[in-house]
Amino acid sequence: MTAPCDAAGVRKPSVRSEALDMLALRYSVGPKFLAPPAPTPAQWQRAAALALRAPDHGGLRPFRFVIVDDAQRSALSELFVRDAIRRGHVAVEVDRARSRAFNGPGLAALVGRVREDVVDVPPHEQWLCIGAALMNFLNALYLMGFGAKALSGASVSDPDIRSAFCAEGETLVSWVLAGRPTRTAHPNRDDTATPVIGNWSVLESNGEAATPAGHPAGPRHVTSTVLSPNDEAVIVASRRTGRGRDLPAVAGEAANDGY
Ligand SMILES: Cc1cc2nc3c(=O)[nH]c(=O)nc-3n(C[C@H](O)[C@H](O)[C@H](O)COP(=O)(O)O)c2cc1C
Repeated sequence: MTAPCDAAGVRKPSVRSEALDMLALRYSVGPKFLAPPAPTPAQWQRAAALALRAPDHGGLRPFRFVIVDDAQRSALSELFVRDAIRRGHVAVEVDRARSRAFNGPGLAALVGRVREDVVDVPPHEQWLCIGAALMNFLNALYLMGFGAKALSGASVSDPDIRSAFCAEGETLVSWVLAGRPTRTAHPNRDDTATPVIGNWSVLESNGEAATPAGHPAGPRHVTSTVLSPNDEAVIVASRRTGRGRDLPAVAGEAANDGY
């Protein structure tokens, strides 16, 4: 069924509002609370298509998802066992590692491929894209009715497990476990208390941050700028202030017009 669209082909406000409400309630669901069924191949594909909507500077697609199907869990469990033995774990822990490979009705590995040689797209931008892809992947699974959780743990750094999933230059980032949630997911921390957005404060001539009328007192970024030879503003220092104390400075960030 096609969702109602306005003339420009944009989903109607009620649909958008519902999507926003839904996204606000996405929480991770751990393997203990995931039951069959796993996502079907078509549903995994759809989640991967949503992952491709991540902002991707240069269109590098620095990620891919690898689905581990049921028939492959035994082979994965042998790798987990070898990893546990290599780490010197005792028998009970080795058994736990073996069974961990069967966790989650559905299992995907997220593989990152960050290139160092792309002048305009530094590694941190590529990692941001990978993170955004993971978020979209999780959101897509959630909107399809699945519970899911990204889990890395020690296994992603085991050399044998890594080479079973990654080519040269790739990183095994995490596992994504998915299935039908058996309980209502709930927040495990207070999101509302997290100040992750605020207004920009410019410096006044006395070097103090201007506080716009009505702006709540809280952590802000205060920046010092100078003009570079080509008259672009360059941030030479940036510090986060809040509740009367200064937080560590971040120096040398350049503010060019490349955004
Ligand atoms: C790449 C990645 C790896 C993670 N690995 C683990 C992990 O090994 N163990 C864990 O408890 N949480 C891990 N997390 C965090 C959980 O997936 C989850 O985000 C966290 O429990 C917060 O829950 P929420 O998504 O409901 O906010 C990882 C998250 C990411 C992005």
